[in-house]
Order: sequence, then C-alpha cells, then structure tokens
Amino acid sequence: MRTGVSRGRLVLLLAPAAFVVSGCDKTQNALAPKSHQARDIASLFWWMMGGAWIGLGIVVALLLLAWKRSHRQGGGREAEGDKPGERLGWYVVVGAGIVVPIVLLSTLFVVSDLFVIKTTQAPAANATSRTVLVIGHQWWWEVRYPGTKAVTANEIHIPVRTPVRVEVRTDDVIHSFWVPQLNRKIDTLPGRTSAIELYADAAGRYRGQCAEFCGLQHAHMGLYVFAEPRAEFDAWLANESKPATAVASAGRDEFLHGACASCHAIRGTSASGDTGPDLTHVASRTTIGALVLPNGRDQLSEWIRDSQRFKPGNHMPSFPELSSSQLAALVAYLESLK
Ligand code: CUA
Repeated sequence: MRTGVSRGRLVLLLAPAAFVVSGCDKTQNALAPKSHQARDIASLFWWMMGGAWIGLGIVVALLLLAWKRSHRQGGGREAEGDKPGERLGWYVVVGAGIVVPIVLLSTLFVVSDLFVIKTTQAPAANATSRTVLVIGHQWWWEVRYPGTKAVTANEIHIPVRTPVRVEVRTDDVIHSFWVPQLNRKIDTLPGRTSAIELYADAAGRYRGQCAEFCGLQHAHMGLYVFAEPRAEFDAWLANESKPATAVASAGRDEFLHGACASCHAIRGTSASGDTGPDLTHVASRTTIGALVLPNGRDQLSEWIRDSQRFKPGNHMPSFPELSSSQLAALVAYLESLK
C-alpha cells in the first residue's frame, strides 16, 4: 500500500519533467534564435522580461515599505501634520506610477515598432529573390515554389543564409505560420496574402507550428523548414519540380482508380485531386500527416488504413476495407515516389 502511494506520488512529480523532456522539439524555441530576426525578437523579449522583473521588484519593495511603516505607526493611520511625507508620496505616485511607465512603454513601442517589426518584415518581391508560397489548410501546409512546378506539403526547403520571401495564404480559416527560431508568426487571413522573411544562419531542420487555433487538429498542424547549402537546395527543387517517374504497378492502379486520386494529385498521372497534399514526391518527405507520424512503411500503411486514429477529424477518411495486399501495393507505390 505504502509503496503504491509513493509510486503514485513519484509519477505525479515526474510527469511534468517527463513532459518537458519528451514533449519539446528543441528546434521550436523562440529563445534559441537561428536568424537575425529571431535574435532581435529574443533580445526584445529579454529586455521586456528584465524590465518587468525590475518593475515587480520595485512594487514589492514599496509594498513592504508601506506595510512596515503602517505597522510602525499603528493601524496604518497617518500621523497628524505629516505634510512633507505626504508630498513625497505624491511625487512617488506621479513619478513612478505615471511618468516612468509612460516613458518606458513609449520607448518599448518605438523600439519594437521601428526596429524589431521592421527587421522582421518580408523583403519586397523582386526578380532575384526566392519566393515560397505557403497555403494553410485544415490541418496541413501546402508549399509551392512560384516559377517552378514544385508542390509539396508540411516541409519547406530553403537555401541557407539566403533571405527567402514567404507569402502565406489560407484555403479555409485563419491559421498562423510560425517558425520560432527563424522569425515571428504571421497570420494567414482569408482573401489576403501576407508575407514574411525566412532566413537561417545555419543549415538544419527547424520546427514550425500553426499558432492560431483553427479547429480540432490545430495542434497537429506542424511543419519543418530545412535550410540547406545552395547546391543541395537546387537539386531538391529540381527533383520536386519534375513529374512522378514511377512505373506502372498494382499500387499505381490502386491509387489512380481508387479513392486516393480524388483528393490527392500526383503530377505525371491522372490523379489531380486538390483536397489533400500533392503526393508527387511524397517519399522524399520525412513525415506524414503534418508531422504526426514519421514517413515509414508501417506508418504509411497504418495512416491509409485509419488516419482518423492518429488525427481524429482530419479530412481523409479511413479505409478499413482495404486488404493487406492492396495496402502493401499502395504503400510500395507511394514509397517509390522519390
Ligand atoms: Cu492551423 Cu491552427
């Protein structure tokens, strides 16, 4: 009995720690900036945090002082004729309570508006800059590279140390595109195109997340940004721009004549659905379901059979009626779409 209780307590104590350790992808951390924009945002945060702590310290000190004085004078009653003290109190209220906050908040406004918001702004679109179009859907990200035929989902590739203009739109509701290590968030508003810059100091993978509640699977609307050396990025984009080259197979027939093709497109085939992600090069992605599962044979198979189990409410129906040979053929075909 005793051990049961202490084990229960241990679990309660360790649960938050386990959550912190396991639940966080360290590449989704606004306080570990990997671009000059994210660094500006992080330093603004630390300045604000420092200011807030100092302000809190002063307020607490004044409260303690008042408490101490009221005790000394008995019941908080002011002594008669304490005029100089009263005047000093008045100066403190006007100075620390009105003038200092106005000055501090105005400075903060000017610094954040003129400097931080400006530096995090998207570069103007021009012929030489690279533009990526990101379209929010419930609950995944469509990614297009204007000027090429490349269409992918949930995984954005950019060249490292190169400013990339990202234009964001939505196909349904308001989402918010946010890659914390690279820049601030930007909302996707129906009927409007907004823009932000993505720039990465170092090659690597950076996790992003929809940051505006957009329905049941809002939390499962993740994305990755892969910043790569120029040559690697160019090779990736050239491959993504090509149509699928997979040869005829049982899985291909299953895909094109079954339900898949009515929602998904595979360039180079008759499949041209636009409800779900373009799957032309699905095998080149690292995850499926907007980062819900790693992209592997078993996971693809489980996902096709019952995606509702992993992402309840998502717009892809489950297909429990598929036989294991049909499923294996479909997965083999998808795995060939490199
Ligand atoms: Cu999309 Cu939250």
